[in-house]
Amino acid sequence: MARVPLIAGNWKMNMTVAEGVTLVKELMPRVDGLGKVEVAVCPPATALHAVGRALADSQIALGAQDVFWAASGAFTGMLSPPMLIDVGCTYAIVGHSERRGRFGKPDESLSPEAAQVFGDTDASVNLKAKAALGYGLSPIVCVGETLPEREDGRTDEVVAGQVRSCLAGLSAEQVAGLALAYEPVWAIGTGRACEAPEANRVCGIIRSVVRDAYGAAAADSVRVQYGGSVSEKNAHDLISQPEIDGGLVGGASLDATKFSQIAQVASVIAKDMRYA
Ligand code: 13P
Repeated sequence: MARVPLIAGNWKMNMTVAEGVTLVKELMPRVDGLGKVEVAVCPPATALHAVGRALADSQIALGAQDVFWAASGAFTGMLSPPMLIDVGCTYAIVGHSERRGRFGKPDESLSPEAAQVFGDTDASVNLKAKAALGYGLSPIVCVGETLPEREDGRTDEVVAGQVRSCLAGLSAEQVAGLALAYEPVWAIGTGRACEAPEANRVCGIIRSVVRDAYGAAAADSVRVQYGGSVSEKNAHDLISQPEIDGGLVGGASLDATKFSQIAQVASVIAKDMRYA
């Protein structure tokens, strides 16, 4: 099996330009040269250009936290795939639960009217994934259930439905080349990661949905990451699971020591185990 794990850091709304550049300068010597792992950082839009330049001679890839589907036009505040490629991005996260307005820790100050700013749906995520692929950006498509959905026993149905809808209309080759991130909403930013065997089970369901819709070759190639309170402490347990091809890391990606340790763990697992 030839899947190389992907460790991507989602910096979310953190880091000035100077802080971001300092962080990747600390990361590069710790991560460059690791075999059998791909590492990416996804800074906020304001830092993409500078961080991209700092990464020029590095193996660390640059990703955006979101992307719009049109190439240009009257879309105030949006960033198109060609704009992201222009500053050096090769990845774009799409459909993160926070962009869908699905939060693990409800924010009482966010009224329903204000929450509309986080308006992504499976349909918009599908447009974004298609556009990203059309321009040569690799999407990291996020899916995951909320706590009420899990408690209602609807995890598998919710996640499978998101995968089908978000990937609708893509070719098997396109699906083979993208990454899906299973991020249970209740595990994000809570310090309460999903238990590794359960994360592995849901990632396996995601892969089986891909197999049913796009065939065995796409299912064997597509990378299914886990995200939600990944740390340097639980990384080995999670990433050594057979269905989990790396992590989408939030908080721990803001710390060069922790993030590079997660990348090192993934590299060792990939060398030792199923990727040999
Ligand atoms: P945390 O690692 O901070 O839980 O965030 C996960 C996440 O949402 C990554 O996209």
